[in-house]
Amino acid sequence: MSSMTPLALEGRAVVGARLASPSAARNRAPIASALAERLAEGARVLEIACGTGEHALACVSARPDLVWTPSDPDPASRASADAWAVEAHGAIRHALDIDVMRQGWAEGLSADAVFCANMIHIAPWEAAEGLFEGAGALLAPGGWLYLYGPFLEGDATAPSNLDFDASLKARHPGWGVRALADVDALAASCGFERAERLDMPANNRLIGYRRSAPGRRTS
Ligand SMILES: C[S@@+](CC[C@H](N)C(=O)[O-])C[C@H]1O[C@@H](n2cnc3c(N)ncnc32)[C@H](O)[C@@H]1O
Repeated sequence: MSSMTPLALEGRAVVGARLASPSAARNRAPIASALAERLAEGARVLEIACGTGEHALACVSARPDLVWTPSDPDPASRASADAWAVEAHGAIRHALDIDVMRQGWAEGLSADAVFCANMIHIAPWEAAEGLFEGAGALLAPGGWLYLYGPFLEGDATAPSNLDFDASLKARHPGWGVRALADVDALAASCGFERAERLDMPANNRLIGYRRSAPGRRTS
């Protein structure tokens, strides 16, 4: 990792190398369904912060034409993603070691879409910046960056997300549920425009940013 910030991992059960996340068990079907309706035929998807790797398997099970590459800076997460990937019969590539706070992480990579669930609120804001800068560098115009997770949306913010924000900040002052307006502004500075905002279970959102133009920032 490029900072001293601890990696926050979701709650997990362990079966050999395969890790099982209760939250992924709850949200993987709605995430896979939403992405399956949106991703282009044969899309190459780079997943940032894959955690256990269960979202990758759910998504390629829903859309076997996808070519999915998970990534995570945490070695146990990568081992778990590789172990789950065996069930995908080649549709899920070997998990990459990507820390989006590392300058230039996107060099040599290309994809049609980037997907990142539940990371930007539980990492420093610099991780969100690194995510958008790198995604802006590796996606061509028309490519998509999908974020899944909770967001602050002014008066429309769910009370549970305000409580979650407070608990995150108590754990680490650099963490916190991000304001969607701040993420939109960051996206715009990196050449993205928000084109989708989908309500998901438990007051989460799937936010779709489309790569529109070269951004001011590059990785
Ligand atoms: C709460 S878990 C979410 C995992 C999975 N996406 C999910 O929704 O179940 C947060 C993940 O973010 C990853 N992470 C934290 N900081 C990161 C960084 N700077 N770059 C990439 N991934 C990071 C952690 O290793 C962890 O797997």
